[in-house]
Amino acid sequence: MNAGHLVVESILTEALTAVQRTAIVDLCSAAHDEDFGLLFFFLPHDGQHFLGLIDGVLVAHAVCTLRHFVVDGRIPLRAGYIDAVATMPGLQRRGYGSAVMRTAGEHIRTHYDIGGLSTSRPSFYRRLGWRRWRGFLAARTEQGLEPAAPRGEDVVMVLTSTSTPPLTLGEQLSVEWRPGVW
Ligand SMILES: CC(C)(COP(=O)(O)OP(=O)(O)OC[C@H]1O[C@@H](n2cnc3c(N)ncnc32)[C@H](O)[C@@H]1OP(=O)(O)O)[C@@H](O)C(=O)NCCC(=O)NCCS
Repeated sequence: MNAGHLVVESILTEALTAVQRTAIVDLCSAAHDEDFGLLFFFLPHDGQHFLGLIDGVLVAHAVCTLRHFVVDGRIPLRAGYIDAVATMPGLQRRGYGSAVMRTAGEHIRTHYDIGGLSTSRPSFYRRLGWRRWRGFLAARTEQGLEPAAPRGEDVVMVLTSTSTPPLTLGEQLSVEWRPGVW
């Protein structure tokens, strides 16, 4: 996919070189103004990265990993969960983030029942077809189900497809626990 000179490449976490990993951590840290140094410690090895490249230089990124959603305690869904969405500061508002997320969305629609993410910027994703989950959010822990709101002002959004069963998005949604949950 192209947006100007942008090329979006897909690559598994386990296939990334050390140089690529450093570039992803640096990009995410710069865009979010937050240390992403532990990103690859938390990510499963079979994550699918989407690299937005201009002349081989990483300018935008997102990663999709498998998580297990359960709706209303009875409908299991394989979710393609998106993390580490970032475009290089100074190169934002040129369509690069959208191009990366469109490719990620195609991947989700092909390989998963539903897409998921949490964000403080729902308008960016709404334009790309993502919708806010309005129901109760929970984490599945060893102790059972625990309420789990996303951090700060973040909201949870989902991307549905023909593989997704009918949902109102007002149901209870749980996910397996991880640090930060969403
Ligand atoms: C969110 C983020 C990934 C978006 O990346 P981006 O490359 O700027 O994304 P795009 O350029 O595709 O779209 C961003 C906005 O610019 C607009 N835009 C796109 N091309 C444009 C152009 N040529 N001229 C003017 N505006 C343009 C889009 O309509 C979009 O507007 P919207 O957010 O109101 O819908 C980026 O801003 C970022 O890294 N932010 C910091 C970290 C963050 O917040 N991450 C996501 C939250 S989880």
